Amino acid sequence: MNNYAKVYMCIAGVVALLVMVSFRLHLTDIMLLFGGDWRCNDEFRDVNALGVFTFRNVCLEINTTPMRRTMHFINSKKSFVETLRIVVYDATNNSKDSISVSGSGNTMWNFWDVTYNTSRIPNEYAYQTDVAAYFLAFTCPGNLHHFLEDEFRTLQSLVSVTNRLRSGCRNRLLYRAPWDLDPSEMDCYDVRTYEPLLALLNFDHEHDAYYRMPANTCFRYGVFGNADFSGGKRQASDYVIGKLGIDYDRCELDVVTVIRRRTRRILNADVLINVTVSEGFGRVREVAMEDLSVEEQIRTIACTTILVGVQGAGLQWAVFMRPGSTLIEIAWPEKHWRFYFKGYITPYNIYHRGVLAKHVRINWRVYQDKVRGGEVVSSRERAILMRSAPKNMALDNVWKWADAVVNVEHYRAALRSHKYANMILRH
Ligand SMILES: *[C@@H]1O[C@H](CO)[C@@H](O)[C@H](O)[C@H]1NC(C)=O
Ligand SMILES: *[C@@H]1O[C@H](CO)[C@@H](O)[C@H](O)[C@H]1NC(C)=O
Ligand SMILES: *[C@@H]1O[C@H](CO)[C@@H](O)[C@H](O)[C@H]1NC(C)=O
Repeated sequence: MNNYAKVYMCIAGVVALLVMVSFRLHLTDIMLLFGGDWRCNDEFRDVNALGVFTFRNVCLEINTTPMRRTMHFINSKKSFVETLRIVVYDATNNSKDSISVSGSGNTMWNFWDVTYNTSRIPNEYAYQTDVAAYFLAFTCPGNLHHFLEDEFRTLQSLVSVTNRLRSGCRNRLLYRAPWDLDPSEMDCYDVRTYEPLLALLNFDHEHDAYYRMPANTCFRYGVFGNADFSGGKRQASDYVIGKLGIDYDRCELDVVTVIRRRTRRILNADVLINVTVSEGFGRVREVAMEDLSVEEQIRTIACTTILVGVQGAGLQWAVFMRPGSTLIEIAWPEKHWRFYFKGYITPYNIYHRGVLAKHVRINWRVYQDKVRGGEVVSSRERAILMRSAPKNMALDNVWKWADAVVNVEHYRAALRSHKYANMILRH
């Protein structure tokens, strides 16, 4: 190398450094430019529709006047303090806003307090230049029904319209409020339960309340609100099926899956299985879903033609069945234990058949564990509870914690109606 070349190299180095400093490029940007999927950033799509708003340069910084808030649970209320606030830098004004956004009607928390600031992001802040943060008000993430209906389906659509579903995109989910205040309520607030599904939307970080992030963290993009832009309910389920490489055409035909639960058991499951076989469905299996991983549960359901189960959040798995499949929901409406899933499942092109329990037996052990924290209910109180209406439909309902003997003739009719609906007349 001659001296001129050395001088030029030196000048080029200095210029590169100046460029980095003046455009505030970080090492991650440079690495992304050369190695990572930098197109993920360039193709972010802003949204300002259906109650969803996007911003650039969204930071979480110390709230000089921390905000105390209260969350109401079924049997209690708990307070927490928001120690961080949301600041949008490079804004067009220096005002404050409380933006009300779309989200599940089951939450009262569909609003975000935001401060705008016309300055640039301070240099000492940790700027995650390739991350899009989705700010979300959750309802009950540990419960499959609420997780899929209130969060996941719309979130999938949202990540898709903002163009962050492609591999290489790094997304982060930030919750409106803490999820671990009241873990006692039937695992409602365990955000870890369905994390593997969120990973399919490129949320591979832990998701927590936004104010529990390290102070002075900034994201290139912030997305507020959660809505369905897809125009069809199946988009999210079909996306999951595709992502897991499941091909409905490669499933065995006419598989019947009976969900075996630990509570609300089917007492005559063996009779139902025999009836299933005698109706020409040779492939029938009883499955304890909670023993399987989330992915195994989806694979099991995707290759199920008729899903049979007692009313409960797990029946929401039916959204992953192939169109034209059937969900048989067993319930006992006479005692506040009604059919629940018809309205939720039919928009996915899944048939719904309700089958009555012939009778139910209250399972006091389960009721005591789930509702009374293990306290034994005296026989005198048991008699009273059995005669009176529940105080709280969602929880304090002795009949909800009963085991069922299913009406076999109703069950047989449900199997047959599936056959006629699908014109499967072989057997
Ligand atoms: C303030 O700035 C934000 C971000 O640039 C913008 O979305 C908002 O509409 C502005 N508000 C007003 C009142 O101009
Ligand atoms: C904007 O942000 C800068 C840096 O954090 C801060 O010093 C300044 O006070 C803020 N401006 C307003 C109007 O709050
Ligand atoms: C189910 O069918 C099997 C085989 O035919 C029989 O041995 C069994 O007793 C039946 N069970 C019930 C509960 O009917």
